[in-house]
Amino acid sequence: MKSLTMQGAKILATGSAVPDSSLSNSQMSEIVQTSDEWIVTRTGIKERRLLTGMNQSVIDLAVLASMKALDKISMNPSEINLIILATSTPNDLFGSASQVQSKIGAINAVAFDLTAACSGFVLGIVTACQFLQNGSYRNVLVIGADTLSKWIDWSDRSTCILFGDAAGAMIIQSCSKENNSILNFQLNTNGNYADYLSISYQEQVNPHPILNLYQGAFKYVSMNGKEVYKFAVSQVPLSILKCIDSLNISINDIDWLLLHQANERILTAVAEKLCINTNKIISNLSKYGNTSAASIPLALDEALQINKISHNDIIVISGFGAGLTWGTVIIRWKAF
Ligand code: ACO
Repeated sequence: MKSLTMQGAKILATGSAVPDSSLSNSQMSEIVQTSDEWIVTRTGIKERRLLTGMNQSVIDLAVLASMKALDKISMNPSEINLIILATSTPNDLFGSASQVQSKIGAINAVAFDLTAACSGFVLGIVTACQFLQNGSYRNVLVIGADTLSKWIDWSDRSTCILFGDAAGAMIIQSCSKENNSILNFQLNTNGNYADYLSISYQEQVNPHPILNLYQGAFKYVSMNGKEVYKFAVSQVPLSILKCIDSLNISINDIDWLLLHQANERILTAVAEKLCINTNKIISNLSKYGNTSAASIPLALDEALQINKISHNDIIVISGFGAGLTWGTVIIRWKAF
């Protein structure tokens, strides 16, 4: 863990985008054997958005969310120096960030993908801060975007009910230490449990006849729901506690708890473990399901749009998911 103190980083704007097409729990029960009651009780999800139609990809959602963030502060895209696209569902194995850079006209930005599943946006913020706080770049666009609907087995009721598609974006700028809004972070990975949650690569049975080279393709999302649940509820509170302890603030100083929107029961269990009042939980997963790397910026953007968050509020943000990777970022919200 390392405290962010070299130079400040401030959040200028957020934006988000979801597809138009929604799928309710009752519509889901026409696709797999399930019910609204089962899904709501176990997860809190009522509906999710799906990116339907030909030639639609994560890039379209990422571009829309980014343009909304840029428009909010009337920033010319050419002022962006770096784009980090956190996604596990790129449209190209080489990465999709460069296509986002091209489509939004960020002609001066370097762009790369960051793969860390549902923790991707937290890792994206922390990565952006390294470049901002060491003075390399002035404006960074961090995007969390995923279209897991393309990687789901729509006959597997244990996973297909959980996920939705979305994108969220945040523009972060370097600033003086006094205006710093990203106070601290704490990150973890444990690859021993990578198979709890994966979209694994499957080789073909027969190799190339001359080269002995095995090619293959990616499978669908596979998840051990019970283990992922136990991992999240046990590890996320520890990450938050480590992060606030090294900042010398207390649980009572937290105004908002913004966790990766995986399951309402996980959000409540983490809050209760930390003795945080559940009315401090930011949650919108009933409308969107688990949107992976997009879930945190989407929920933050919506909370800001309804003026839920006030100047100087402390927001604890935690991501967790495949890897397994999890971590926390603590923000003091500043309305500029
Ligand atoms: N509808 C109806 N019944 C179902 C469904 C469904 N959609 N899915 C499973 N069931 C059945 C199972 O077959 C099982 O039946 P059985 O008892 O006859 O065998 C029963 O319901 C219980 O299944 P469990 O898997 O034990 O249900 P559980 O209470 O664990 O809930 C859930 C499943 C909701 C997935 C839960 O484990 C969970 O939320 N885990 C965390 C998952 C998560 O957060 N993943 C994402 C994090 S990381 C990332 O975002 C990439």
